Amino acid sequence: MAFFKKKNQTEVAEADLTRLPKHIAIIMDGNGRWAKKRGLPRTAGHAAGAETFRTIATYCKEIGLDYLTVYAFSTENWKRPQEEVGAIMGLLKKYLLEAIGQMERDRVKMEFFGDLSPLPEELQALCQKTREISKGYDGCQVNICLNYGGRDELLRAAQKFAKDCVEGKADPNHLSEGAFSNYLFSAGVPDPDLVIRPSGELRLSNFLLWQSAYAEFYYTDVLWPDFSKEELHRAIAAYQRRSRRFGGIASC
Ligand code: FPP
Repeated sequence: MAFFKKKNQTEVAEADLTRLPKHIAIIMDGNGRWAKKRGLPRTAGHAAGAETFRTIATYCKEIGLDYLTVYAFSTENWKRPQEEVGAIMGLLKKYLLEAIGQMERDRVKMEFFGDLSPLPEELQALCQKTREISKGYDGCQVNICLNYGGRDELLRAAQKFAKDCVEGKADPNHLSEGAFSNYLFSAGVPDPDLVIRPSGELRLSNFLLWQSAYAEFYYTDVLWPDFSKEELHRAIAAYQRRSRRFGGIASC
């Protein structure tokens, strides 16, 4: 049992770390606003956001979370200024180089959701290398969504399924939800139980559209670079107070 109480804070977050959700997904939002508030370039916000990601991913591993998925770069983020896109790619490269150096110690399994082919070649190679080295690891699985969009993922899955049908490997009359899930980038990963969005925005922004069907949502005004272990506890505590019925009724 963990207990956090900040000075002058009325709400107390009490998260039972023996009853964690299996899979937490996070939309790492608010980096730009965090930087603007400090008179810094947006890229400084992303650098601070990358630090927060390190802290939270490490903590998730420590508390024994099974799966953490983060939205790092969407299919729509290419519309941002080249300098900003380049800075995010640079931060990812830096992170992966560090992760590779510590993999044997951390035993975190790393996966990537999204079409990696438009990414800089060096970054693609690092993603491939991290995936390869860590594929046998049994610690927390961290999925980084890169050039990811929920609609793009569904279209690609539909294309792959149609191709399998044409080749006689699949039958459209016998398609189940479970079988279709295996065509997604997230194949084999259970759906997220809890989706967290910091920064006060109340939308899904094309994130895990299929997988979030029955996820519990947690929103907070805190900007991602300020997101902390205490915030994570608050989110988990809120999740633990929910009654998940999956379309059914509460059991007596
Ligand atoms: C959204 O905030 C954030 C992004 C589009 C980029 C997220 C990237 C990182 C946290 C850094 C790299 C990640 C890793 C895994 C090392 P925003 O820029 O839309 O913020 P705003 O809404 O305040 O402008």
